[in-house]
Amino acid sequence: MDAGISVRKLTQTDGGSYRALMLRGYSEHDTAFTSTFEERATKQVEWWTRRLQDPTTATLGAFDAGDSLIGTVRLEAYQRTRERHKVTLTAMYVMKDHASTGVGRKLLDEALVESRRLNGIEIINLTVTADNLPAVRLYSKVGFQTFGREIRAVKTPGAYLDKLHMWRPVSADYVTQN
Ligand SMILES: CC(C)(COP(=O)(O)OP(=O)(O)OC[C@H]1O[C@@H](n2cnc3c(N)ncnc32)[C@H](O)[C@@H]1OP(=O)(O)O)[C@@H](O)C(=O)NCCC(=O)NCCS
Repeated sequence: MDAGISVRKLTQTDGGSYRALMLRGYSEHDTAFTSTFEERATKQVEWWTRRLQDPTTATLGAFDAGDSLIGTVRLEAYQRTRERHKVTLTAMYVMKDHASTGVGRKLLDEALVESRRLNGIEIINLTVTADNLPAVRLYSKVGFQTFGREIRAVKTPGAYLDKLHMWRPVSADYVTQN
């Protein structure tokens, strides 16, 4: 783990740095995300700030020793009454300069803690591009299990991409098999 990495919930004052970080993520890892750089670059800082303010979500940021934002992950609650026991984990990204040093693991550990603070949340779902092995391994390590594969979930100019659907209970008692 990088020395001095801290994780905290992002707030409305982080809108600019969150926008810059995510745009970097979309451009560095074109096939890892469903949104494209081009789509998201059109959104001004106010749009990103509103995302951070949305009370049905929680966005976490990882900061280096100099307090620069270097990674992020987001939880989004389902809205319908019968689905309010679930959140989606999304927009997970760690800057290349800091990759493979434990930042992603720390963000996910904190996201699990955060999900237990959210009222009534029992399950976390996510989707991941099927051939994104670093992400699939990371999610598996913290207890996510694959329950389905969406064939041709995403169509890029070069290829169709499948998405894996993964889930885990939020309970700290849940014993991972990985
Ligand atoms: C996937 C990602 C978030 C991982 O973050 P990270 O900070 O590099 O991950 P960590 O250093 O915490 O690694 C934790 C585990 O992830 C897996 N992992 C991370 N990088 C890996 C790699 N290059 N190859 C294989 N497994 C890898 C390993 O299981 C690792 O555990 P280990 O070191 O004990 O083997 C990061 O690489 C990233 O931002 N990728 C691009 C965007 C993306 O794919 N987002 C996910 C969208 S669903």
